[in-house]
Amino acid sequence: MTTEQTIIPSRAAIDNIRAATFTPMAVRAALQLSLFTPLARGPMTTVELAAALDVRPRRLEALLYQLVLSEFLTVSDGRFANTDMAAYYLVEGAPTYIGGIHGVWTENFNALMQTAESIRTDTPQNKIDFSSMSQEELGDFMRGMHAGSVAFGRSLSKQPQFADARNLVDIGGGTGGICIALCEEHPRLHATLVDLPSVIPIAAEMVEAAGLADRITVKPFDILNNPLEGEFDVATARHFFQVLSAKQCSKAAQNIAAGLTRDATLYVNGIVTDDSHLSPTEAVGYDLIFVSTFDDGRAYTESEYRVWLSNAGFTDFSREPNPMGLSLISARKT
Ligand SMILES: C[S@@+](CC[C@H](N)C(=O)[O-])C[C@H]1O[C@@H](n2cnc3c(N)ncnc32)[C@H](O)[C@@H]1O
Repeated sequence: MTTEQTIIPSRAAIDNIRAATFTPMAVRAALQLSLFTPLARGPMTTVELAAALDVRPRRLEALLYQLVLSEFLTVSDGRFANTDMAAYYLVEGAPTYIGGIHGVWTENFNALMQTAESIRTDTPQNKIDFSSMSQEELGDFMRGMHAGSVAFGRSLSKQPQFADARNLVDIGGGTGGICIALCEEHPRLHATLVDLPSVIPIAAEMVEAAGLADRITVKPFDILNNPLEGEFDVATARHFFQVLSAKQCSKAAQNIAAGLTRDATLYVNGIVTDDSHLSPTEAVGYDLIFVSTFDDGRAYTESEYRVWLSNAGFTDFSREPNPMGLSLISARKT
């Protein structure tokens, strides 16, 4: 006689769901309150920090202890201090500050909360529409992406193609972070940022503030409607294709190619999945965010990019994914 044994599966993944939200929500709140900035002056009690932030201490204290558990603060003798990481990245005014990203997190979290309704209605419930957002919303969103685009531009500047490049175009360039970083690193480079008319004032302001208005042209241009005009020897497009439908991606690739010289390199940086749709895991998560964010945008697969770029006359396709779910695709115009 055999006895059937019931194996009870672990429920740990279910039990851990709520706890997994504490750190993201606490850090977002801290950034919204600019909490790490006064702590750059030294450790503070709850009361001292509350006074610096112009809030009451009681509710603040709960946030402070969670931030200690989350390893963004330390506490000793009732005084809270930034960890090295918070001091380096999250103090406003520091050149290494990246805390503006909380605006993008807010968009992401709002979108994720709407997943079921977006699927039920087949309509993005937290839609990002770059043409019709208010200037304030657009400004918050774009400025949240700025540090990332500057960092990307700096890392890209080491690519050998930039040693000889003179004429860069950045498609859907947002705040101009890529153009700014690349022009700072390569004094002989001129850049053109093209984007929808609504974004251009934000780009112009950032380029002006960087003191690079003489080397960076910002141009209102819908790349889906017109072939790119110019003789650009290098092109970038960061977080751009993923906001479009597959059909639009194909069209955009062709319109970009039209403005590039022979052998120009196109660098695409964004959320791309392997053909399995299962990795990198961050990119799979982004695809879920896009469900509620864009009419048609997706974390497209490597093969989809290969086809669009090949059909638009690009060759030497390569893709390097990083652990954050971002991929760098490069291709050469034939
Ligand atoms: C997610 S944002 C990325 C901005 C910037 N590249 C960055 O990485 O910070 C996508 C950008 O593509 C622009 N965009 C969308 N459709 C476009 C189109 N048809 N022509 C030009 N730009 C477009 C948007 O206005 C927006 O600035």
